[in-house]
Amino acid sequence: MRALTRETLLSAGDFVLPLFLHDLEVDEAIESMPGCMRWSLDGLVKEAGEALALGIPAVVLFPAIEESLKTKKAEECFNGMGLVPRAIRALKEAYPELVVMTDVALDPYNIDGHDGIVEDGEILNDATVEVLCKQAVCQAEAGAEIVAPSDMMDGRVAALRGALDAAGYENVSICSYTAKYASAYYGPFRGALGSAPKAGDKKTYQMDPANRREALRELMLDEEEGADMVMVKPAGAYLDIISDVREHTTLPVAAYQVSGEYLMIKSASADGWVNEKAVMMESLISIKRAGADIILTYFAKNAAKVLRE
Ligand code: PBG
Repeated sequence: MRALTRETLLSAGDFVLPLFLHDLEVDEAIESMPGCMRWSLDGLVKEAGEALALGIPAVVLFPAIEESLKTKKAEECFNGMGLVPRAIRALKEAYPELVVMTDVALDPYNIDGHDGIVEDGEILNDATVEVLCKQAVCQAEAGAEIVAPSDMMDGRVAALRGALDAAGYENVSICSYTAKYASAYYGPFRGALGSAPKAGDKKTYQMDPANRREALRELMLDEEEGADMVMVKPAGAYLDIISDVREHTTLPVAAYQVSGEYLMIKSASADGWVNEKAVMMESLISIKRAGADIILTYFAKNAAKVLRE
């Protein structure tokens, strides 16, 4: 009876697995995110292969960049021989059918640890967008099928679409972080990449957690600018936003269950306070029920295994 009347089904095909990588030969455990690794290129390829074998269609890459390569204007982000382009090529060579999604933002590359270029304590929106365009074209050149701007600069979706088309990458999709909130749930992620802002916070470009209508304004802009998919982030504390966005668009809606959401479940279950498997599955079905078609989650592999049981 429960199966017949169930309204929401979760499948491995809904998941995108976020993967961290660094330019070292060894795989390294991430202290702030138990169960997650900073992968070497070999480790990354192996991990993505395991995800694919479990039915997970896509991965999204987050690089930890060596301090010596970080600059004020983040030039390393469009180095064709850089870590991310090399990783994309290795993944596509090993698994042509794997969808590789990339993060478009400057924070891993920027000495200021901000998603944009900082000058006198302010983010330079338009100068940043120019660099983001070079970054996305570089990722597309290496073989990424989906570029995902997480930077929250204004006008970047239209600019990326124009730059990708002009470079001959009409088929590369844009998954926009449409409603990305200035959230304290990103803490463990910034620890994983050493990408926390050196000064200030991200409140001048990420959204205020108090705002709901603003997400729909961001959605209208992203649709007009040519986004192919729209994302809400974080997920668990923003189910109302996922639901609103679902109601107002025909585009695929993605939601990102972020590092803090992952860590809270991990640490509460490590202490025996909650059942990890049950809470993991409940958190994911709730995100799906709220209206997400695509879920970015560090639990992707574990959840896919549970779904096979
Ligand atoms: C930055 C970026 C962040 C995350 C994804 N891309 C952090 C931030 O905005 O500071 C967070 C993901 C997570 O917490 O799991 N471009």
